[in-house]
This record gives sequence, C-alpha cells and structure tokens, in this order.
Amino acid sequence: MVTRSCSYAFLFLVAFQSTIIKGDIVLPPPPQCSPVPASTLEKIEFVLNLIVYEAEFFLRSSVGLGINDISPGLVQGPVPIGATVAELDNGTRNIIEEFGLSCVGHIRAIVDATVLNPPITRPQLNFSAQLFSGLINQVVNATLTPPFNIYANNNFLFAAVDASSLLRQYLTGIIPSIVGDDERRLVTGIAVDEAAVSGALRAQLYARVNSTVSPYTFTVANLSALIAQLVNQIAGCGMKDEGLIVPLQLGAENRTTTNVVPADVYSLAFSRSERDILRVLFGTGNATRPGGFFPRGFNGALFRRIQILGLS
Ligand SMILES: *[C@@H]1O[C@H](CO)[C@@H](O)[C@H](O)[C@H]1NC(C)=O
Ligand SMILES: *[C@@H]1O[C@H](CO)[C@@H](O)[C@H](O)[C@H]1NC(C)=O
Ligand SMILES: *[C@@H]1O[C@H](CO)[C@@H](O)[C@H](O)[C@H]1NC(C)=O
Ligand SMILES: *[C@@H]1O[C@H](CO)[C@@H](O)[C@H](O)[C@H]1NC(C)=O
Ligand SMILES: *[C@@H]1O[C@H](CO)[C@@H](O)[C@H](O)[C@H]1NC(C)=O
Ligand SMILES: *[C@@H]1O[C@H](CO)[C@@H](O)[C@H](O)[C@H]1NC(C)=O
Ligand SMILES: *[C@@H]1O[C@H](CO)[C@@H](O)[C@H](O)[C@H]1NC(C)=O
Repeated sequence: MVTRSCSYAFLFLVAFQSTIIKGDIVLPPPPQCSPVPASTLEKIEFVLNLIVYEAEFFLRSSVGLGINDISPGLVQGPVPIGATVAELDNGTRNIIEEFGLSCVGHIRAIVDATVLNPPITRPQLNFSAQLFSGLINQVVNATLTPPFNIYANNNFLFAAVDASSLLRQYLTGIIPSIVGDDERRLVTGIAVDEAAVSGALRAQLYARVNSTVSPYTFTVANLSALIAQLVNQIAGCGMKDEGLIVPLQLGAENRTTTNVVPADVYSLAFSRSERDILRVLFGTGNATRPGGFFPRGFNGALFRRIQILGLS
C-alpha cells in the first residue's frame, strides 16, 4: 500500500514536472553566454565585486563618501579613481544615497553569512567622467560637444540604472544554482532588493523620458535605447537590455510601448552570466581583458579561472 501510494506520488510528480518543463522553452545559451562552473562561494565572491562597485559609485556620487566612511574596515584596497559628487536634484540624491547604503548592508550580510571576512579587497574602480563621455560617444556614434558629463544635470541616473541592472541580471542567473538554505536566502534577499532598486531608478529616468538630454537634441528615451543597444552589442548574448520606450512587440503582452521594467516575452527577468557581465563592465567585449570601470579586473577565484582559461 505504501509502495503503491509512493508510485502514484511519483507518477504525479513526473506529470507535474513535465507540465512545468513544457513552459520552459528557453534554449541552452551559446558557450560564450553560459555560466562558468563555480562553487556557491565563488559566485558570491564574484557578486561582491558588483556590490562594492555600486556602493562606492552611488555613495561617492551622491554624498561624497565611500564604503569605509559608512562601515569602517569593511573594505580595503585601492581608492576608486575619478569619483565626483554629481549634480542631482535633492530627491534623486536621496535615493542614490539610500541605494548606496543598502549595498553596504548587502556587503555586511555577505561577510556575516559566509567565510568571506572583512576587510573585503576592493577592486580598482574607475569612475572618471572621461570614461563615461567616451562610452556615450560610442553609444551615439558621434563625438559630442561639449563632452557628455555623467556628473551633471541628473545624467548620473543613466549610469546608476546600468550598474544596478547588471548586478540584478547576474543575481537572477545564479539563484537557481545556489547551494545551501542560508546561502540561497542571502542571495535571494540581495536579488529581490536589487530588483526593486533597479526598478525605482528606471522609474526616475522614465519620469523624464520625453525630456531632451541637455544640451543635446536627443531625448532620455533615445539615449536609454541607444545605451541598451551598445550594452547588448558588447555583451554579445542577445537582447537583454532594453530602452524605456520600445516597439509594441517588446512591450508587456505586446500591448504597451512603455518599458520601465525590461523583461522577456513572458515578462520574466533577464539574466546575464559572468562573462557577459565582464565584457560590458570592462568595455572591451572580452572577459579576460580588463578595462573600463574595472581597469585591473575583478577579485576572486571565478574571475581568475576565467582568465586562466582565457575565456573571452
Ligand atoms: C536641496 O537640499 C539642499 C541641502 O540640503 C537645500 O539647501 C536646498 O534648499 C534643497 N533644495 C530644494 C529645492 O529643496
Ligand atoms: C580611467 O579612465 C580614464 C578615461 O578612460 C583613463 O584615461 C584612465 O587611464 C583610467 N584609469 C585607469 C587607472 O585605468
Ligand atoms: C557610425 O558613424 C559612422 C560615421 O558617421 C558611420 O559610417 C557608421 O555607419 C555608423 N555606425 C552605426 C552603427 O550606426
Ligand atoms: C511622453 O510623450 C508621449 C507622446 O507625447 C506621451 O504619450 C507620454 O505620456 C509622455 N510620457 C511622459 C512620462 O511624460
Ligand atoms: C528618438 O526618439 C524619437 C521620439 O521617441 C523617435 O521618433 C526616434 O526614432 C528616436 N531616435 C532614435 C535614434 O532612437
Ligand atoms: C509578442 O510578440 C512576440 C514576438 O513577435 C511573440 O514571440 C510573443 O508570443 C507575443 N506575445 C503575445 C502575448 O502575444
Ligand atoms: C581576450 O583578451 C585576452 C587578454 O588580453 C587575449 O589574450 C585574447 O586574445 C582576447 N580574445 C579575443 C577573442 O579577442
């Protein structure tokens, strides 16, 4: 009797699973977009690079403070290059500061829950205005005059949206493979918070969607679409970034052109793997050739493995 009900349960499970699998029409990603095999700890270590980057960038640009000013001794290593307090309206400054602070909380959560102990080694970060103006020239395929200033005129929101979006995309990708209840709770807690951050920042940008980006002629909608296009091109893993206004067939249920929260045809979150993320943040389109925001690469075993294996 016991055996029999077990086998019914088993059959039911098989039937139920195949129903779920039916919905899973996603093809396996091409090799350059696939995750690199890594332990849960190595993935969390990789995540730390992204959280430290966002924390330093948001705090320095909103209130001129770094992680250690908020939580002394939490990080060590090279001071970020080129950080500047941005010109922001007060409401925007407040939320950028809030989100920088929440990243410090996430770092503390990681050091409390794992064997990664403080001080966490900070990767070399480059926040120089010239780096952004060069990227935006690439985005618009022209040399803008005056050069685009990421630190003027609330422009910082464009960079903030992208920083939080890459972190969210990486977290989305790793959640299913995280081993251990505590670790899964940790990573999920960070991911859901970061998804909210990303949405809140996109909503800030969306509120200005029809405005021109001063002193140029293009609008916030135009620039958001062009940035997404360049990110997708450098990452080389399909369309996972989208502008704030999209053609109907990319909008939710093909019924809207607004796109505050970018997502796939089922409105499920996009994910990006390590190499995908590295290509974009290095700006080189090559996961083993550091540059851009991380001129000396990432810290941790997963990045070292990518380098040793020469995975572009
Ligand atoms: C913005 O904040 C600054 C400093 O706290 C304050 O002096 C200024 O009046 C605020 N501006 C507005 C428009 O609220
Ligand atoms: C930071 O970026 C700027 C602009 O691209 C560049 O000139 C500078 O060399 C970079 N710094 C480092 C340490 O990579
Ligand atoms: C970028 O601009 C150049 C020169 O104007 C042009 O030849 C090229 O086709 C443009 N590239 C793209 C991707 O639009
Ligand atoms: C932007 O302009 C379009 C077309 O005029 C309008 O439908 C839309 O409501 C505007 N969006 C915002 C956020 O102002
Ligand atoms: C810029 O935005 C306008 C208005 O939404 C649109 O008509 C135009 O096609 C956009 N241009 C680019 C290059 O995206
Ligand atoms: C929306 O359009 C896309 C691409 O054209 C298609 O794959 C998808 O099934 C459509 N979604 C709905 C809900 O009709
Ligand atoms: C990626 O960069 C590494 C290190 O600079 C280099 O050895 C390799 O050839 C590059 N790969 C590609 C495909 O460009």
